[in-house]
Amino acid sequence: MASMVGQATLGKEELLETAGLMVEFTRARGDHLYYLDENGKERQVLDLVGGFGSTLLGHNHPELVELLTRCLAQQRPVHAQGSRRQQASELKQALADYLHQHSGERYKIYLLNTGTEAVEAAIKHARYAYAQRMEAMSDACAANARELQIRLERGEIQIDAPLLQQAERLLQHEPLDHVDALLSAVNQRNLQALATAPLMAALPYAFHGKTLGSLALTWNRDARLAFVRNNPDALFVHEPSQFLAQLREHSVSVYQFEFQPLRLVERRLPRLAGLIYEPLRGEGGILELDAEFRTLLQALREHHPEVALIADEVQCGLGRTGRPIESAAQGLPADYLTFAKSLGGGLCKISALAVRESLQHREFGMLHSSTFAEDDLSARVALRSLEILQRDAVAQRCASLGEALLEGLQALQRAHPELIRAVRGRGCMLGLELQDLSEHRSPLLASLAQEQLLGMVCAGHLLHAHGLRVLPSLGRRSVLRIQPSAYLQPADLQQALQAFRALFETLAQGNLQSLLAH
Ligand code: F0G
Repeated sequence: MASMVGQATLGKEELLETAGLMVEFTRARGDHLYYLDENGKERQVLDLVGGFGSTLLGHNHPELVELLTRCLAQQRPVHAQGSRRQQASELKQALADYLHQHSGERYKIYLLNTGTEAVEAAIKHARYAYAQRMEAMSDACAANARELQIRLERGEIQIDAPLLQQAERLLQHEPLDHVDALLSAVNQRNLQALATAPLMAALPYAFHGKTLGSLALTWNRDARLAFVRNNPDALFVHEPSQFLAQLREHSVSVYQFEFQPLRLVERRLPRLAGLIYEPLRGEGGILELDAEFRTLLQALREHHPEVALIADEVQCGLGRTGRPIESAAQGLPADYLTFAKSLGGGLCKISALAVRESLQHREFGMLHSSTFAEDDLSARVALRSLEILQRDAVAQRCASLGEALLEGLQALQRAHPELIRAVRGRGCMLGLELQDLSEHRSPLLASLAQEQLLGMVCAGHLLHAHGLRVLPSLGRRSVLRIQPSAYLQPADLQQALQAFRALFETLAQGNLQSLLAH
């Protein structure tokens, strides 16, 4: 273990391997994973990771396993594209009803495969809506130019020198000496403006997936920079209070004539097609949105209702935070929402994009589709998962588990303020941030911290010494993520807190031999 210190550029796999985290689990049930030790004996591990939030219902939920087994035994179809997908439509209805119940809004649902694909679909829908607006504006500009010509022909108006001069100033154009030159200059400007590519905005420390579109909006530089760098179409909101002013710079201008009195006017259209946000950021280190971002979302809603506000609830949604829809619980506007992880009940790969009914484009379902989307098997499992979520009041369960876990972790922080920087999050989506120990008196601890390996080492120790599985956030490696299922038993909760207590006592005593031995 000590040999890993000094190797700053270990890849993810090597890091996990060296920290003793690359265990092959052979069985999973509820909040537990099992592996075989070197003597072939089955060892139990309390799992607070799952698929970084995908096991809200626990591993291999018995009702879902039974359902899946029955579907297979009955030879239910899985893939039948171009036919009536009854299971998929029931799921869409159930998810739309869930959203309506908890947000008061009506959404149209599209089913997809993974979290990142739901985000891609959201970006595509926002870009499509933008393109449609530009198309409509282009028609409006053409109609406006025709109206000018008709009025000229009828002699209702005339183009005089002051108008030409006003147009020159507005367009910052060289002298326009004739109506045809004026019309052609306006037309050219408008065509250019309306062909401008849209922008998408995202928040710092948010994670949206690793396919190219969502990666461009993902903060994590290790994940992004090798593929997407200096992308002019992606904006990160660094200064929320300045963002609306910044939007003016990121706008295009189209020019139209007004007739009473006759003059050329400029209309600015924001290039921003959408802004995506994680209501509670997971991969970035369990970070809540600060008030400034919430104010920005409200201001965008008010001043730019055409900009699609996308709540990425892939990780925090469907009750994990202790609230059925995290964005709605925070009173944040959400034109679109994305869901994945918990939707498949921890067994199936399935995701969903929800678009407010008044904003959805009917043809979008054809424009974004996939061989594997809407398959009967995952639709059935997701439908049943939604039923279980509601029947078992999973959000409330998460809320009370979260309170108990937070209370225990906060007590630990009070006991070890020099080791624990923060404890945060809500429901079953919590994080424990280690202090920056890069100046610690123990050289080994200091170098582990400097190399951002301390979180990994702590996770390895918890796994092997205490049978507890947590992992650091890859976006912020000093944060241990804690994401149990909604069914974590009181004894398990105590085991988890006891393991954390023991870890921090070991660290406080500077007992690094014990930390690294496994
Ligand atoms: N959006 C959010 C908020 C996510 O947390 C993730 C994945 C995705 C999108 C992408 O989903 O993996 O199904 O394509 N988050 C994991 C994490 C990987 O570490 O939090 P995917």
